[in-house]
Amino acid sequence: MKILVTGGLGFIGSHTVVELQNEGFEVVIIDDLSNSSIDVIDGITAITGIKPHFEQLDLKIRSKVEDFFKAHNDIAGIIHFAASKAVGESVQKPLMYYENNINTLVYVLKEIGKLQHQNFIFSSSCTVYGQADELPITENAPVKPAESPYGNTKQIGEEIIKDTCRVNSELNSIALRYFNPIGAHPSAQIGELPKGVPQNLVPFITQTAIGLREQLSVFGGDYPTQDGTGIRDYIHVVDLAKAHVVALQRLLQRKNESNFQVFNLGTGKGSSVLEAIQSFEKVSGRKLNYKIVDRREGDVVAAYADTNKANDVLGWRTELTLDDAMASAWKWEQKIRNV
Ligand code: UFG
Repeated sequence: MKILVTGGLGFIGSHTVVELQNEGFEVVIIDDLSNSSIDVIDGITAITGIKPHFEQLDLKIRSKVEDFFKAHNDIAGIIHFAASKAVGESVQKPLMYYENNINTLVYVLKEIGKLQHQNFIFSSSCTVYGQADELPITENAPVKPAESPYGNTKQIGEEIIKDTCRVNSELNSIALRYFNPIGAHPSAQIGELPKGVPQNLVPFITQTAIGLREQLSVFGGDYPTQDGTGIRDYIHVVDLAKAHVVALQRLLQRKNESNFQVFNLGTGKGSSVLEAIQSFEKVSGRKLNYKIVDRREGDVVAAYADTNKANDVLGWRTELTLDDAMASAWKWEQKIRNV
């Protein structure tokens, strides 16, 4: 069965390709390489023994998208990762984000409407909840006004899919709202490849430990949490990738009760920044140089998932721990720096 993975050379995309191939799916990757490396194909091939079909394609060029789908009209499902994802950059370049994340989604949805099998999975984010009033966060928590153009593209993206599902009953879709994906494949063949200075916590930790950055700034030590630092739900990228396969199987087997469904993907456990650092120090055996500084603008205090719907309805749960994720991230950082 042929599955299209857009953005399949990115962080979550590449791990999902591995899990799809492990489950026997034939994968076609499209990626524009704007924030990924062609070498990721070698990593996927090394892990699975199968080289996925790859086409370098810019989804913003509508005619190219049409041509691609004409040549691949036997696609049984699409997992749509391709998007820009840096919150700060999106504030500086809103139109780039709307074009990259919204235009491309519209073009893909137009083409899926012409296919025989219209199964679609969308990468969404817990950012749609903003600072939720109640923790853990269920899928019924209200969507809050977006803090950034990036967050807005995830909210609008979900709305676009929902509206399309209303008029096209053939379209079966699931939006997956990720909490904080971290870690790497345990083989260290694939992992996260942030461009420039990492904005996210874990790559900043590993780059500091390896000597690329002098010191980690912990943003805020005066939050109303047990140790004063922000709380997040860190989910191992391999667990997250497996959830995509489960969601796809749900669509392929027509198990979905409605043609637009939303699931939170998290562990259900909140960890503070200091707990994340402790976990890293434990698994790496290294002391991390860090300093508590002012809060970062736009950060929520705490966010972690209520996992009941994903556990009971989707039939998926996480298997790996924060320590597993930190160990794999560290192994990956050492591998890419040849240490
Ligand atoms: N943090 C630091 N220092 C850093 C980086 C992060 O202390 O150098 C802290 C943050 O303040 C936060 C936690 O580590 O408490 C996690 O921060 P990340 O940047 O790794 O992740 P965020 O929770 O901020 O980002 C996530 C997703 C985004 C999404 C955003 C919305 O990665 O896609 O939530 O809030 F948009």
